[in-house]
Amino acid sequence: MIKGRVRLSSAKVTAFAPANIALCKYWGKRNTELNLPVTSSLSISMGRLGTETTLSLNENRDVFYLNGVQTDQDSVFSKRTTEYLDLFRPDNSFFSVDTKNNIPTAAGLASSASGFAALAGVLNRLFKMELDKKELSVLARLGSGSACRSVYDGFVEWHAGARDDGMDSYAESLKAAWPELRIGIMTVSEKQKPKGSREAMAQTVKTSFFYRNWPDRVIHDLTAIKEAINGRNFELLGETSESNALAMHAAMIESSPAIFYWLPETIRIFHRVWELRQKLVPVYFTIDAGPNVKLLFLQGIENRIIKEFPDLQIVKPFESENV
Ligand code: ADP
Ligand code: DP6
Repeated sequence: MIKGRVRLSSAKVTAFAPANIALCKYWGKRNTELNLPVTSSLSISMGRLGTETTLSLNENRDVFYLNGVQTDQDSVFSKRTTEYLDLFRPDNSFFSVDTKNNIPTAAGLASSASGFAALAGVLNRLFKMELDKKELSVLARLGSGSACRSVYDGFVEWHAGARDDGMDSYAESLKAAWPELRIGIMTVSEKQKPKGSREAMAQTVKTSFFYRNWPDRVIHDLTAIKEAINGRNFELLGETSESNALAMHAAMIESSPAIFYWLPETIRIFHRVWELRQKLVPVYFTIDAGPNVKLLFLQGIENRIIKEFPDLQIVKPFESENV
């Protein structure tokens, strides 16, 4: 189906895709081959933080560079990239991929999302497929589920869909701006995490009793987050996002064997956030499959937050210099 739309090109093309942080998480698949999720999810894209990828056809063999270093053929990166390129590969042809993440790779900062969205973007250009955003979102999803949201800036909802072929499982922009919103990245560790999201997710679905509550939880949280965005209710946005992330981790922790991504510093940051809230400073956190924490707050308290967390990397998802 995909190869049918491919037209050969000798060009070298580049595309950028932002990383995204889910406020209501995607955790669990109903189809692992097509990355079809159990539930819908909702994210915010990270402006200029993400992946830039350059693609061209190559003679004789595939060659991949990740952050300037040629990757080993047996690495997870090479295997996943090859598998994805095979969906598009014309007979007897090879690729050269040069990709750069300006976020840590495989550390719970969504490199797989921006990575596969950028790869879908360059394939679309190289082969002149002229896909619209919705089609691009479907293609990005085949590389990594969360990548289907990285096709857009701003708030994005991924509709779970119900079809077996996944054609109704794509992301859409919510078209709602919140210029004062800030995301603060607290990098606790840049090390590759011990277990990738993919494996962790499958294990949670299979072995966690808590996971049985997850789909109902998501229905509730998605409604609340959309209401918060529409009504600019920051407290509702923050509370729901934080609680949703903790519920996802609760299901992981209760799976067998336990999946525990937090480091001591991660937990210390949680406590500092809760202490600030006790002092009526409106700051919340979310966390993905890794030890790094993302803070949510509004522009008005930026100085207070920087004072508290001097190493914070601040993203302004809706400011033009950032998108
Ligand atoms: P993360 O939390 O960073 O998303 P994951 O374990 O979910 O971590 O995904 C990491 C995987 O994403 C890598 O092993 C690799 O397969 C893929 N990936 C990361 N960066 C890129 C990139 N720039 N291009 C293509 N794939 C990438
Ligand atoms: C915790 O999209 O990396 O970041 O579909 O197997 O590639 P695959 O998983 P991936 O999982 C992301 C999980 C998450 C939550 C989220 O981004 O919604």
